[in-house]
Parts: sequence; structure tokens; C-alpha cells
Amino acid sequence: MENPKTMNAATSGTFQLGGDLPVHRLGFGAMRITGDGVWGPPKDRKECLAVLRRCVELGTNFIDTAESYGPHVSEELIAEALHPYAKGLVIATKGGLDRPGPNKWEPDCRPQRLREELEGSLRRLRLESIDVWQLHRIDSKVPEEEQFGAIAGFRREGKIRHVGLSEVTVEQIDRARKFFPVVSVQNRYNVADREWESVVEYCDREKIGFIPWFPLQTGKLAKGGGPLASVAEKHHARPGQVALAWLLRRSPVMLPIPGTSRVSHLEENIAAASLRISDEEMETLG
Ligand SMILES: NC(=O)c1ccc[n+]([C@@H]2O[C@H](COP(=O)([O-])OP(=O)(O)OC[C@H]3O[C@@H](n4cnc5c(N)ncnc54)[C@H](OP(=O)(O)O)[C@@H]3O)[C@@H](O)[C@H]2O)c1
Repeated sequence: MENPKTMNAATSGTFQLGGDLPVHRLGFGAMRITGDGVWGPPKDRKECLAVLRRCVELGTNFIDTAESYGPHVSEELIAEALHPYAKGLVIATKGGLDRPGPNKWEPDCRPQRLREELEGSLRRLRLESIDVWQLHRIDSKVPEEEQFGAIAGFRREGKIRHVGLSEVTVEQIDRARKFFPVVSVQNRYNVADREWESVVEYCDREKIGFIPWFPLQTGKLAKGGGPLASVAEKHHARPGQVALAWLLRRSPVMLPIPGTSRVSHLEENIAAASLRISDEEMETLG
């Protein structure tokens, strides 16, 4: 695989979020720089700060986070490691999920709560406006028009530039688009889990960024075995790198955000930006 001295996320290509916000397609997911159960500080804080700095050094300009990661820890570490931000660095955060404890997630999208979360993200990230703010989950307890209406208001106020959604159906995206342009959709998707294929196809058609979460299936795909391992062997690559290369080839709107708390894994993941797999290998992987 590629020499760490020459590897760069830019080789994954560029996507224009909302038509005016360019990002290198291979990004970074900042959920793993927190403690167990995405709760509290990470075990190795110094290494997590190093991961963030190294990812920008290696050309990453798209970082995904959320106010609920930690909660707050991921956003705080991003600001600590990277503020003042390099020109062109896009931080996409999220709101709408409360955290009663480790591994516990509960939607709360009452407009006042969304506003409090957004204000908190702006403060922690030390920004006046969030480039991409994503609704982490639609809250079934709150009328959709209240949630979408509040977000449209944040946009009018200039507190957010672009809006993304997460874990949504095509019908939900269509309804949200009546309130604001949707520039990205973040659903669970990887070479071994295609449940949201119809949403990938929709985003591909509509030129909406598709951000697959669990791109490495929480690390299982990095362990390999099966067709991933045999394709990897041909390229002198690691199975996880093939899983990322498969995503990048699947659609030009695909923006994978592998997460890690280790510099060595980060470097391995970013090296996948330049891994090109053939049509035949795409077929082998199904
Ligand atoms: N919208 C949503 O609802 C939602 C849900 C989940 C996640 N997300 C976002 O999606 C991002 C990606 O998902 P994810 O981080 O949960 O899962 P992932 O990227 O599929 O896998 C991350 C896991 O794999 C391990 N890993 C990463 N690179 C590796 C490598 N090269 N070799 C071996 N192991 C490796 C990491 O452990 P180490 O730390 O030891 O490297 C970590 O435990 C998150 O960070 C978050 O930003 C969004």
C-alpha cells in the first residue's frame, strides 16, 4: 500500500456538498475518540488528539461528529486539536439525540432542545456557523413539521449553512426537502450491509452526499476473510481498505467516514483513498 509520506485523502476525489462546499470524499468519523459506549473521555486522549491532527495533515477536510458523542467530548477534542481551523475544513455535526448513559441514545427533537444543542455545538466548536448540521434522528414524538421548521429557521438565521439527515427513508427525505435543501444523508451502509440501497440510489440520482456510517462494520471488515481478503491480497492491501475502496467506487456521491482512535488505523484507512478496484473485483464483492 501507499507510502504514508505520499498518501492523501484528496486522491479519493472531491464532492460538492450543496453544490458549493467541496470536500474530499474520504472523510473521518469522530465518534470513536470518546470513551466506551461513546460516553465520556477516550482512554488515550493524547492519541485521539494526534488522530485529529494527522487526519487533517493527510488531506482530510471532512470530519463528522455530533453533540451526542461523549456527549460533547468529540466536539471539544476537535476544537482543541484543530482550532483555528484550516481553510476548507468542513465539520459536520449533528443534534437531536439525547444521551441518558453509555450506549443509550434517545431522540429529542423538540425545537427548543434542537436550538440548545445547536448553540452548544457552535460554542464548543468555536464557530459562528456550522457548515453542515445534521438531524441525528427524526423524533417520532414530535410532529415532523416542527422539527423541520425549526431547522429551516436556524438556516435563515445563518447559524447553519447546509442541512443533512441521518437514518431516514426516501419518503422522509422528500418531506424534509419541502423545508430546506438536503445536502447529505447519513445511513448505515457498507459492503456487507446494503439495507439502505434504495436511499443510496436516490442520493446518487439527486446528487445528495451519502455518508455511510459503519463503513467498516465497526471494524469487522478490517479483520477480513472471504472475498474482501482475496481482493486485498491482489492489491497488497488490507481488507478494510478494500471495503473503503468499494464504497468510494459504489457511487460518486459516497462519502465514507471511517472512525478510529489510533493513528496507525487512520493512516491505513486514508491510504485506501488511492486504492482502485476493478469492475471484476466490484462484481466479486457483490
Ligand atoms: N448517523 C449515525 O447514526 C451514526 C451511527 C454510528 C456512527 N456514525 C458516524 O460514522 C462514523 C463511522 O462509524 P464507526 O466509527 O462507528 O464504525 P466504523 O468506521 O465502521 O468502524 C470503526 C471501528 O473500527 C476500528 N477500526 C477503524 N479502522 C481500523 C483499521 N484500519 N483496522 C482495524 N480496525 C479499525 C475502530 O477501532 P480503533 O479505534 O481501535 O481503530 C473502531 O472501533 C462514526 O465515527 C460516526 O462519525 C454515525
